[in-house]
Amino acid sequence: MRIDIATLFPEMCEAILSESIIGRARKKGSVEIHCHQIRDYTTDKHRRVDDIPYGGGMGMVMQADPIFNCYNAICEQLAARPHTIYMTPKGRVLTQQRAVELSQCDTSLLLLCGHYEGVDQRILDRIVDEEISIGDYVLTGGELPACVLTDAIARMCDGVLSSDECFRNESHFDGLLEHPHYTRPEVWQGEAVPPVLLSGHHKNIADWRLRMSLEETQKKRPDMYKLYMENAQKDK
Ligand code: ADE
Repeated sequence: MRIDIATLFPEMCEAILSESIIGRARKKGSVEIHCHQIRDYTTDKHRRVDDIPYGGGMGMVMQADPIFNCYNAICEQLAARPHTIYMTPKGRVLTQQRAVELSQCDTSLLLLCGHYEGVDQRILDRIVDEEISIGDYVLTGGELPACVLTDAIARMCDGVLSSDECFRNESHFDGLLEHPHYTRPEVWQGEAVPPVLLSGHHKNIADWRLRMSLEETQKKRPDMYKLYMENAQKDK
């Protein structure tokens, strides 16, 4: 999988996406991530990328031309049109389900990060296929959301985690929150690990984990629990 990120702050994305699991996956070649500086595509001698909004109002708006030039250069590199996603609080809120679908996308992905008050609507109309938000709150730019989306997608690509099981058993994958985890020591400050986990009985452990998963979801995310139960009823 290849993900391109178009931004005014490529170093910010590089810093985050060069570390830990994603950083190692990039070095191994399991995922390809390229961060592009939109400012490199201005034709203006001052390398200007924004201007005041028509109609007045606060803040600056990113101009269409540098983004369009950057987009065309990426298309040329790819010899194809990437599925283009604009990171914005106005987009559909990201879910695990959408991250799974995007990790299976047969074209590469381009994430466009806005800054200031936003981006000229005409470039969005021209190149963007989808708008994604990472939650109902507003950040100073699309860089952190682009890194969040990249991480959520990349970790499900082949060769990034040691096996599919690493994400198949996790919270949100099957509509439930994950069961609790324990590690050594067996007793910590008087608190023992649930005995079933020491039993070596795989069926009992799996049953306990499912029960805990249901309990956690019911307690912490009653909305998810309700949906899970409705779907389980439908599947019967
Ligand atoms: N840009 C600013 N806030 C954002 C959000 N919540 N999601 C995606 N992009 C954003």
